Amino acid sequence: MSPSTFPPGFLWGTAIGAHQSEGNNTASDWWYRENLPGSLVAERCGDAVDSYHRWPEDLDLAAQAGFTDYRFGIEWSRVEPADGALSHAAVAHYRRIVEGAVARGLRPMVTLHHFTLPLWFAAAGGWLNPDAVERFLGYVDALAPVLEAAGVVRVETINEPNIVAVLPQLASGEADLAQGLPVPDPTLTQIMIAVHRATVDRLRARHPHLEVGWGVSVQDYQAGPGAEAQTEAYCEPRDQVFLRASKGDDFVGVQTYTRGVMGANGALVLDPDAERTQTGWEFYPAALGGAVRRAARIADGVPLIVTENGVATSDDTRRIRYTTQALHSLRAAMDDGADVRGYFHWSLLDNWEWGHWGPTFGLVAVDPTTFVRTPKPSLAWLGALAPAARS
Ligand code: BGC
Repeated sequence: MSPSTFPPGFLWGTAIGAHQSEGNNTASDWWYRENLPGSLVAERCGDAVDSYHRWPEDLDLAAQAGFTDYRFGIEWSRVEPADGALSHAAVAHYRRIVEGAVARGLRPMVTLHHFTLPLWFAAAGGWLNPDAVERFLGYVDALAPVLEAAGVVRVETINEPNIVAVLPQLASGEADLAQGLPVPDPTLTQIMIAVHRATVDRLRARHPHLEVGWGVSVQDYQAGPGAEAQTEAYCEPRDQVFLRASKGDDFVGVQTYTRGVMGANGALVLDPDAERTQTGWEFYPAALGGAVRRAARIADGVPLIVTENGVATSDDTRRIRYTTQALHSLRAAMDDGADVRGYFHWSLLDNWEWGHWGPTFGLVAVDPTTFVRTPKPSLAWLGALAPAARS
């Protein structure tokens, strides 16, 4: 792997989400759930890694390592903490991050929704509320000062709509991602698509300079012997319906961590001897190439950006090994015709992994009480692959 492996202009970034990094998102539904007595959420997010205050340090780390792009999230519950009550201070905060990124030579990619909702919206039925699309568009409209700040290039409307559509099953403990992805709720699937399409239309009407897409969780589902049809049937509701719905977008984000091998009976075959990561997923770096090849076939001409890829490990040499192999598989998929425009690593920082502090995905370690950031060798290593992308 060398800086010349990827074409000039290829986006080279890190990714981070709002709730997982900011801390104290007290007006959100996840905060409420985390703090209920007897909560099923094992460990609280709390201060997270305090990126709400320490974002300049985070930007410095990414820029100094050599990255060209920076994906971060905006938290709806901060922008609209009560129904209809907009926080201009929160909007100004996110605008400062955009300006800070641009000042450091980083192109911002902004995520509008990453699993968390304002508590008032969740209490009113969340996405099932008949006014959900309009309420979300109201939030999007309120972000005009952020989206019009010089330098915002890309917007990811919804992070992993296919995971949003299984969140009720995950939150109730009914399903466990280590056993594979449950079937997304069909109603939520259609609502996610409606929210996304309406948001793309609104952004194109009001901010025509932006490139807009969404980020789909796409794992490398491989057909075991005789299981081709079962694999296709497994993938269709889990990610392919979302990839197809990106038609007409400027890009579609592919977010890949592992593979699943399908048995002839239509269920995933879990190998008890496979090497695993801290999240229990199989350590299988080449999943990235496999997922990108399938996404390219299904998204039918929409350019791809890898908006998340990474590994939960306490051993940074293993992270470098994983990422090297993942990037080789990505390059091979591109050589075979996949139109991939960039790669964002999940994640810049070790951060809150939806109920757990154990899995560490970061290129940078964070002390849980002082929040001091300590770069791991993988930060400089991955950043050093970027310069060719700048030319
Ligand atoms: C999500 C991130 C999460 C990562 C690792 C993705 O599903 O977008 O929020 O931390 O995977 O589990």
